[in-house]
Amino acid sequence: MSITDQIQKVRSEFSSDLEKLSSDNSVLDKIRIKYLGRKGLVSALFVHMGTVSNEERPKMGQALNALKKDIESEIDAAISSSSDSKNQKLLDVDYTLPGDPINRGSIHPLTLVMEEIKSIFNRLGFSIAYGPEIDSDFYNFEALNIPKHHPARDMQDTFYITDNILLRTHTSDTQIHFMENNNPPVRIIAPGRVYRNEDVSVRSYCLFHQIEGLYVDKKVTFAELKGTLDYFARELFGQNVKTRFRPSYFPFTEPSAEMDVSCIFCKGGGCGICKKTGWLEILGCGMVDPEVYKSVDYDPQKWSGFAFGMGIERMAMLKYGVQDIRLFYSGDVRFLRQF
Ligand code: DAH
Repeated sequence: MSITDQIQKVRSEFSSDLEKLSSDNSVLDKIRIKYLGRKGLVSALFVHMGTVSNEERPKMGQALNALKKDIESEIDAAISSSSDSKNQKLLDVDYTLPGDPINRGSIHPLTLVMEEIKSIFNRLGFSIAYGPEIDSDFYNFEALNIPKHHPARDMQDTFYITDNILLRTHTSDTQIHFMENNNPPVRIIAPGRVYRNEDVSVRSYCLFHQIEGLYVDKKVTFAELKGTLDYFARELFGQNVKTRFRPSYFPFTEPSAEMDVSCIFCKGGGCGICKKTGWLEILGCGMVDPEVYKSVDYDPQKWSGFAFGMGIERMAMLKYGVQDIRLFYSGDVRFLRQF
């Protein structure tokens, strides 16, 4: 059979193969290999090129190349028409239908406030320390100058586990843990959970969070305490907020004070939230009592410092205008989603 006849034969065989099978891509691949593969029918014809005369060779070459091109383009066309029909099926999906919602979580408001407070004090060079939530009478009371029958114990209704082990009532215990294990100077804040056996109400819960601060160095003054806490209040509540310090009493500080900020709701004019005073109490503070240094073996002649403690729930309630402390623990997504 002449090469021209063979070319014709391959062409018609290819056409009938393609007709039978042109809807399936994997079969199309097989056809491609059958004709265009290295050992395929078309390559086999190219081998015959050596046997034709010099005059005929260019014509044969053209004819063979044309065969190869035609087969290639017909296979490509068959593939793209079969994938067109697949695409058509995809288009039957209605993309305007609303999709399944992705429910994103949100950060708990207490975490938000805690992180913000931590970052303010980090900027002032305070690092973070943690203490245990289950602690002994010594760290929670005794070492903080609150001996057994001291009336100040009545300020904090305590959950006792044994006579000596309790759930800490404040983060002040971490002052003692930290000073016991570290030499001065000290510059820490200690965030954490605290527990009090109080009736659950709009304003109080059996657990809540505090941040404690402790700064100990040589010749620390009350002016530094005021400057630090004033800066903190303006960073947290806004630069226009005013602060004032009122004398107070805590066994572990002397002198002691409470800090108020001008009411962030009425700007100091007097409203229901500040009970018409124009001021909101936000934290307790004072110069560390020398008795406290004695219980951690710091020399009170050499070292001085200040401490402060604040409730995170109270800060969050003020910052976000939350009226009921129990909402923080309700797990109610309608509440949590707002933050
Ligand atoms: N521990 C106190 C409380 O829970 C708060 C406090 C007041 C902490 C004064 C301090 C401080 O470090 O100096 O009410």
